[in-house]
Amino acid sequence: MEDIVSLCKRRGFIFPGSDVYGGFAGTWDFGPLGVSLKKKLMDEWWNYFVENRDDIYGVDAAILMNPRTWEASGHTATFADPLVECKECKSRFRADKIASGISESVTTEEFLATHTKCPVCGKENWGPIRKFNMMFSTHVGAVLPDDDAEIAAKGIAYLRPETAQGIFTNYKNIVDTIYPSIPFGIAQQGKAFRNEISPRDFILRDRECSQMEIEYFVHPDTWEENFEALRKAQHDFLENVIGLKAENIHEYEVPAEDRAHYSKRTIDFMFDYPNGEEELMGLAYRTDFDLQNIARESNKSMDYRDKNTGETFVPHVIEPSIGVERLTLAVLSTAYCEDEINGEKRVVLKLPENLAPYRFCVSPLLKNKPELVEKAKEVYSKLRSKYGNVTWDDSGNIGKRYRKQDEIGTPKCVVIDFDTLEDSTVTVRDRDTTEQVRVSIEEL
Ligand code: GAP
Repeated sequence: MEDIVSLCKRRGFIFPGSDVYGGFAGTWDFGPLGVSLKKKLMDEWWNYFVENRDDIYGVDAAILMNPRTWEASGHTATFADPLVECKECKSRFRADKIASGISESVTTEEFLATHTKCPVCGKENWGPIRKFNMMFSTHVGAVLPDDDAEIAAKGIAYLRPETAQGIFTNYKNIVDTIYPSIPFGIAQQGKAFRNEISPRDFILRDRECSQMEIEYFVHPDTWEENFEALRKAQHDFLENVIGLKAENIHEYEVPAEDRAHYSKRTIDFMFDYPNGEEELMGLAYRTDFDLQNIARESNKSMDYRDKNTGETFVPHVIEPSIGVERLTLAVLSTAYCEDEINGEKRVVLKLPENLAPYRFCVSPLLKNKPELVEKAKEVYSKLRSKYGNVTWDDSGNIGKRYRKQDEIGTPKCVVIDFDTLEDSTVTVRDRDTTEQVRVSIEEL
């Protein structure tokens, strides 16, 4: 993990958030290469689940939502983690993360029975477990710090803790404008915010993250077959579109006592990260929990009328939900390799071609030979207009350029030399095998 974190910073993939001020826990900034990788991942997901299917529609809802959303969804009441405070040093922790063998619903008695010592001061003197709501609250509109509590309370809103509710609140809009046949899905990508007690493990547990979620609306009698189809589609996307290894993905059937308040069945897709197995994504059967709650809170019908059978019902929902940061780290840790070429150690990021920030790097063999530079610029423009993500590098010697491009995952380096001027061929060097072949410019 340390090697990946270091590479990410060294090469401009990911920096600590607000780095210049010493960071801001749980936030990360994506640099030029990181944002390129992240965007490609998000685009691949969007193409696979939205553009290439006839049954899933996209939305992009506002992050700030009417606070009634979170009353109806149960987040105001139950989106909370077990907080425990050390009475000696006043440090605060998420109880289920510092003691083993307990779940999020741990009681004070269960926690004390684990005889956990404070990770900061080493003492064992704990206060009671308190429920800590993870939603970030803010004030919307003209609310002043000295306003009385009643006025201030009226202006309270939350940064959304999941993108899902922006989908559920648009269900009726989609049904009334698109008239989709059931089963159908609504997809959204965007930021979600959680005031995590202990953000940790690089970009795995953040206070600000991006999610990609689908709410797939089905007839209640068909939830199991749709759950199964979506389960398979997740594997296909993870393994065949973005190149994760099947042996690193493990399904975990979440027991009832650990499932989110809305779920009747959840499978967590666990991934073998460098520091151990962690949740990559979830697939949940949310029943009609959300639509029924919205119907009650808004007094509007969430019924769906089947065009073929005439049957009217409130659909049930299957939800695949994945965090973009966790996906990015899964891709980076799959790609990260250290090997030896001719006795020299190198770091290489074996990113799939569709995800690599740059597809080609073009360089002149020598940067002080104008005729080589001119030809190289010509090749660069040609490839750039064809592929877009092509980079130029004329720094240092050719060996150093290769090392740098290996580290940032560029699949092919194209070098223009004196032979190019004679026969219009270039050297193409492969990142993974380091093999070099001669190719005519026309064939690139
Ligand atoms: N709408 C359902 C939902 O939000 P979740 O299991 O709380 O379910 C779904 O979150 C996914 O979002 C997780 O599997 C993970 O990939 C990502 N995620 C959740 N909290 C995160 C955090 N604090 N930092 C990074 N990713 C997070």
